[in-house]
Amino acid sequence: MLTVWEAIKMRRSIRKFAQDDVPEDILAQMFEAARLAPSGHNRQPWRFLVVRNQKQKDELCRMCRGQRFIQEAPVVIVCFGDLNRYKLQATRQVHQELVELGVADGRSNYLVEPGQGKPAEGMGAMALEDALSHLKANSYIAIEHLVLMATAMGLGTCWVSRISGLAEVNRLFSLGDNLVPVALVALGYAAGGQPPPRPRLSRQEIMIEAQTD
Ligand SMILES: Cc1cc2nc3c(=O)[nH]c(=O)nc-3n(C[C@H](O)[C@H](O)[C@H](O)COP(=O)(O)O)c2cc1C
Repeated sequence: MLTVWEAIKMRRSIRKFAQDDVPEDILAQMFEAARLAPSGHNRQPWRFLVVRNQKQKDELCRMCRGQRFIQEAPVVIVCFGDLNRYKLQATRQVHQELVELGVADGRSNYLVEPGQGKPAEGMGAMALEDALSHLKANSYIAIEHLVLMATAMGLGTCWVSRISGLAEVNRLFSLGDNLVPVALVALGYAAGGQPPPRPRLSRQEIMIEAQTD
């Protein structure tokens, strides 16, 4: 298996797949990597659905502006965030777990760094708009864990975030509207070799100088 650094360097978006299926033990390892991702307030909102059925992949392709690699990939992972994890009851539960672990301060209702007493993230019930943006940000972290693990195990992936008609995805799989589709990952063995690296900004371009005066 590749190291984290090797996988980061090796990963490319793959849009041409061989038809070989993805072994279950590799999928299991990918979901284990996703499961261990960090999340705000340890809410772990990510949920995953594995799709191999051709008709369902065709439908997903249509719902993603006809991006054909979605129907051609042997496996498509539909990634959701669970809005229920942002409701007050779940918030109380995850907060209590963190209090018991000594990570959160039970008196102030704020998360604190152990020994520092520094407020981090509030724990009140969130506005829907805020909950949706947290849900997406946290789920994306888990998805990238999954993607890097796939790369480390020799598989190709491509993120897809442009999903039109989110409700249509839930209807297709008869899911409740607490599950918000946030992305798909097309998955399989790359056909046609490793593509060259895609351009990136230089380190100078991504760094901002702190103004000290
Ligand atoms: C959140 C996200 C959404 C993306 N959505 C799409 C997509 O809908 N279709 C697609 O072909 N590629 C998609 N990509 C892949 C990007 O186009 C790709 O990461 C970028 O061009 C850099 O290429 P690389 O991944 O090979 O380094 C997405 C990537 C991310 C991280």
